[in-house]
Amino acid sequence: MKILAIESSCDETAAAVVEDGTKVLSNVINTQIELHKTFGGVVPEVASRKHIENISDVVDKALSDCGMTINDVDAIAVTYGPGLVGALLVGVSTAKGLSFMAEKPLIPVHHIKGHICANYIEHPDFKPPFVCLVASGGHSHIVYVKDYFTYEVLAKTNDDAAGEAFDKVSRVLGLGYPGGPAIQKCAKDGNPEAIKFPRVNMGEDGFDFSFSGVKTAVINYIHNAEQKGIEINKADVAASFQEAVTDVLSRHLIECAEKYGVKNLALAGGVAANKALRERVEMLAAKKGMTFVCPSMSLCTDNAAMIGCAAYYEYRNGAIADMSLNAVANLQLG
Ligand code: KG4
Ligand code: ZN
Repeated sequence: MKILAIESSCDETAAAVVEDGTKVLSNVINTQIELHKTFGGVVPEVASRKHIENISDVVDKALSDCGMTINDVDAIAVTYGPGLVGALLVGVSTAKGLSFMAEKPLIPVHHIKGHICANYIEHPDFKPPFVCLVASGGHSHIVYVKDYFTYEVLAKTNDDAAGEAFDKVSRVLGLGYPGGPAIQKCAKDGNPEAIKFPRVNMGEDGFDFSFSGVKTAVINYIHNAEQKGIEINKADVAASFQEAVTDVLSRHLIECAEKYGVKNLALAGGVAANKALRERVEMLAAKKGMTFVCPSMSLCTDNAAMIGCAAYYEYRNGAIADMSLNAVANLQLG
C-alpha cells in the first residue's frame, strides 16, 4: 500500500510517499527555520503563509522523486493535530483536495503517533509493546505503545515542553534558534556538573515533567551574573542545563518502563536528536537489560515519512476521514 503523506503542523512543509508503513520511497522537507530565526522562534502566521506557498511544490516533488503521479498512490494521509492551527489547515486542506480529486481514501494522523512510528522505519524488528519518550518543541510525553493501535500516555509535562525549554534557554544565552542543536554544540566544551540546575518530578508517581523551573533557574543564573558584572561560562551553562533535562527525561523513561514491566524503549521527537540524551538512554537501557532504539536524526525532527508510516497502521485500524476533517490544534493522544 503506497501512501502519500503530508505534514505541516509547525515550521516544516513536508510530503513523502511510504509503502507498507516502512519503505520510504520519497521524503521531501522544506524547512522554514532560516525564516523564523529572524524572530527567534516560530511565528504562526508567517508559518501558515509559507506552507501555502510551498505545499504544492513539496507534494509534486514527493511524487516525482519516486516517479509517481497522484493516481499511483493508494491513499492520502495528513497530520491533523496537534500543532499550529493555521499551519495544520494548509496540510489538511491540501490532503482533502487531493483525496477528493483523485478519489483516494483520506487518513487522519496524530502528529505524536507519527513521531513514535518513525522508529519502525529503520528498525524492522522493533515492535510493540514498548515505552517511548516523545520530546519535541510542543510535547514531552512518555507513551506506552501496547500494540500498533493502542497508545497510553504514562507521563506528560505540566508546563513547558523539553524542546521549548531548549529554545528559550538558547535564546537567553544568545545562541539562536532552534535551541536544541545550538545548546548541544555549545555544551560540547562545557562541564555538565558545573552548575546544579533543578530536577522536578511531578504527578502521583513522580513521572510527570516540569521544565519551566529549570528554564527559570537558568535565566535567573544568567541575570544574577549580569547584575554582578560576572562573566558567565556559556558552555558550562549549556552543558549543565542539558544535563538537567537529559537526567530527568532518561530517568523517568526507565522508571516508567520498569513500573509497567516493559523491556523495550524508544525515543522520538526533535529532542530525541540530542546526542547526550541518546547516549544516556542507551547507557541506562544497557544497564537494565532493556533494548533501545531511536530514529536517525533526520527522522527525529518533523517529516512526512513518519506520518506515512503511522498512517499505514491507522488505516489498518479503520481510521478514514471524510471531507469534514478539520485541524485540531490541541488534539489529545489515546
Ligand atoms: O519534533 P520537532 O521537529 O517539532 C515539534 O513537533 O515541535 O521538534 C523541534 C524541537 C525544537 O524545540 C528543537 O530545539 C528541538 O526539537 N531539537 C533539539 C535538538 N534538535 C532539535 N533539542 C535538543 N537537542 C537537539 N539536538
Ligand atoms: Zn514534531
